[in-house]
Amino acid sequence: MNPPKAPRSRILATGHYLPPIVRTNADLEKMVDTTDAWIWERTGIRERRVAPPEIVTSDMAAAAGRSALDAAGISPRDLDMIIVATVTPDMPMPATAAFVQQKLGATTCPSFDISAACAGFVYGLTIADQFIGSGGAERVLVIGVELLSRIIDWEDRTTCVLFGDGAGAAVIGPAEPAGPDDGKPPRGILSTCLFTDGSLAPSLWLPGGGSLHPASHDVVDKKLHKVAMKGQDIFKAAVRNLYAASKRAMDLAAMTHADIDWVCAHQANLRILNQVMARLGVDEAKVLANIERVGNTSSASIPILLDENVRQGKIVPGDTVLLCALGAGVSWGSAVVRM
Ligand code: UT7
Repeated sequence: MNPPKAPRSRILATGHYLPPIVRTNADLEKMVDTTDAWIWERTGIRERRVAPPEIVTSDMAAAAGRSALDAAGISPRDLDMIIVATVTPDMPMPATAAFVQQKLGATTCPSFDISAACAGFVYGLTIADQFIGSGGAERVLVIGVELLSRIIDWEDRTTCVLFGDGAGAAVIGPAEPAGPDDGKPPRGILSTCLFTDGSLAPSLWLPGGGSLHPASHDVVDKKLHKVAMKGQDIFKAAVRNLYAASKRAMDLAAMTHADIDWVCAHQANLRILNQVMARLGVDEAKVLANIERVGNTSSASIPILLDENVRQGKIVPGDTVLLCALGAGVSWGSAVVRM
């Protein structure tokens, strides 16, 4: 293995926001033909959060962003860039990041959305790392946010039991010049890798409302404005690709699973997570999870989980964390980060 490059950026602080309404499996039993037992055994989910009607995506994103900025002790005015990863924007145009910028009171820093679904936070982190590495930005706010309850067909039991609303954020800044003298690499983003296989796009999509099927009564009648998923296709793609990407990210960081303190993976399905970690040889005790309480929050999944564990004092400065996620596209990626 080649020695890794010195990190260029690091996660300075994290934050998250979960909306107040809790929707349990028992609630869903009253809405569709499902059972708590089926949802729990097939996914590991017990409940998820749902945003009330007055809350929009940019509200949740701004709340998570504020929480990360407070933790970093940084004013919104000091941000050089805001990246919002989401597939549930406030509206198709302009970017949700523009609303987030205004809600935070940031300057006219470049603010844009990226659409990489569940892999969105890993994509955003990679873009922030590249900008900081090239000198194009010093402080970047990366937010993963989803208001999936507004694009779910609440009559479709194959999808409505899976998803939840929420937002997570991280402030990314320059890496410290030298790490702690413990024989480990300096604190920072040690490696990232990203992939997309567009041949699987129809396996998870929301085809209505764009240029292919512009908004119309017909589109709504056919429910093309709601998420449709071939669950098993995505499941197989996730197990295969999350294993390979995680391995690649560890190789790039010149690490093995023994060097990883925590795995903070996208929370889509506990069975996916268990299969990937077994193939990687990662000890179960290192695998963080909150899917039981929040379900699948797509782009928001990793930063919510990361922040919860930082705030609980489980992830401490100096810990090495493996991130990995796969979703619509299909797009996926992985990163190794020393906190
Ligand atoms: O975050 C983006 C990426 N998304 C993912 O990674 C999701 C990947 N896929 C999965 O996690 C799983 O495929 C699901 C959880 C979506 C489905 O689990 P599965 O074990 O693959 O179930 P299945 O689709 O093979 O369905 C098995 C049975 C079917 O009934 P029949 O045909 O065997 O009679 C389904 O109709 O389970 C039925 N079913 C349900 N039953 C009760 C599907 N959804 C439900 C439900 N409640 N909610």
